Amino acid sequence: MTESTTAQATAGTAQIGVTGLAVMGRNLARNLARHGYTVAVHNRSSSRTRSLVEEAGHEGTFVPSESMAEFVASLERPRKVVIMVKAGAPTDAVIDELVPLLEEGDIVVDAGNAHFPDTVRRERALRAHGLHFVGTGVSGGEEGALNGPSIMPGGTRESYASLGPILEDISAKVDGVPCCTYVGPDGAGHFVKMVHNGIEYADMQLIAEAYDLLRQGLGASAREIGEIFARWNTGDLESFLIEITADVLQHVDAETGQAFVDVVLDQAEQKGTGRWTVQNGLDLGVPITGIAEATFARALSGSVPQREAARAVLPADAEPWEVTDREAFVEDVRLALYASKVVAYSQGFDQIAAASAENGWDIDRGAMARIWRGGCIIRARFLDRITEAYEREPGLPLLLADEYFTGAVGNGLAAWRRVVAQAATHGVPTPAFSSSLAYYDGVRAQRLPAALVQAQRDFFGAHTYRRVDKEGTFHTEWSGDRNESEA
Ligand code: 6PG
Repeated sequence: MTESTTAQATAGTAQIGVTGLAVMGRNLARNLARHGYTVAVHNRSSSRTRSLVEEAGHEGTFVPSESMAEFVASLERPRKVVIMVKAGAPTDAVIDELVPLLEEGDIVVDAGNAHFPDTVRRERALRAHGLHFVGTGVSGGEEGALNGPSIMPGGTRESYASLGPILEDISAKVDGVPCCTYVGPDGAGHFVKMVHNGIEYADMQLIAEAYDLLRQGLGASAREIGEIFARWNTGDLESFLIEITADVLQHVDAETGQAFVDVVLDQAEQKGTGRWTVQNGLDLGVPITGIAEATFARALSGSVPQREAARAVLPADAEPWEVTDREAFVEDVRLALYASKVVAYSQGFDQIAAASAENGWDIDRGAMARIWRGGCIIRARFLDRITEAYEREPGLPLLLADEYFTGAVGNGLAAWRRVVAQAATHGVPTPAFSSSLAYYDGVRAQRLPAALVQAQRDFFGAHTYRRVDKEGTFHTEWSGDRNESEA
């Protein structure tokens, strides 16, 4: 470091610091600097710190440090330190190095994709030192980090009072409204980011299924389907993911001249946030079937030996598919996609409500939809409709049951059923479309066959059941006289 920057570093002038300067941390630091904040920057290997200052120094005021002690000393109090390193052990390592250097009231922000139970643990540990720990979801990838992400901070309200305005300042804005708000205590911010990612998985899978249906039903090229998606992006489905899908489908591989999507290996990977969402859905007992099917669809795509074995022997026994009314089919798929998407979001918001109740987080679901309207991967026009639904009824038990969504889904119901039926008839796998429709029919059913499951459980395990006509818990003596007794 030069002498002048070192002198600056010891003066305690930086308003906020970022440690961990890989692309996300670097871009977040640049975003802060561009907004006029004096930003302390630090990285384990100082070459990254130097290159940031050399390449982006003109964008604002950076205070570079080589050591963590120097970095901490360069911050004004109460210190605000943003950690942007790989989730898991690397985050703990940075926290361990940082904590002894901090003082009561300082704020440590973990902006990585941490698993929320880790955030709960870290918050508790740092609280014991008199420090604020703010687990913060940040969505929007590299581009968002630089130009305005969606930010989902947890932690204490007290920390949000001084940190929040900075985060709101650098977040994306939609109609002038920041895509950042206080989410709730301890792990709430990272929890909401996790569900955001789960919904992202569902959204992506639904889009992929729509693409597959159009390709197989119409025999259309990737480019033609890209044009259909571009058209869809001007209506209710308008969203970042639809927009990039149109772009990807129209992209041609330079090496082979083929549609790019055709040269990509069909095995979808994941870093784990989708899996966490599904695991948590199971723990809470919330049926997030759209997210689960999307996550399992990635797993199926990567089940190479199973796919090879199946390809060799499993017949389709399906009729060849030739859609006659092409325009009507495209519209059916669009309506089915929209309806399935509403189900996936409705389920995700149920999961947020359940976790919020269990952990006492008091999360405002309408506000979550509002901060997802810009900056993040699932940004979409229809999030406004979700916010409005929760404004109409903050305690709404089911998003699907809101008047707007009842109408929107009802409008596409016949199309949705036709699409799922055709997919089954012609052997096209649509796990997310189909399971979303099954959820819709399940949740609206007057009566479910769960009654039979309860009877079976009582038969073989004396697990008891309740009756429709009177209070209490009952057991039938199945292997004896079949008398019923109150359990
Ligand atoms: C975001 C993204 C981001 C990332 C995830 C998903 O909100 O900016 O969700 O967090 O793309 O890591 O990646 P996987 O598909 O690898 O799980």
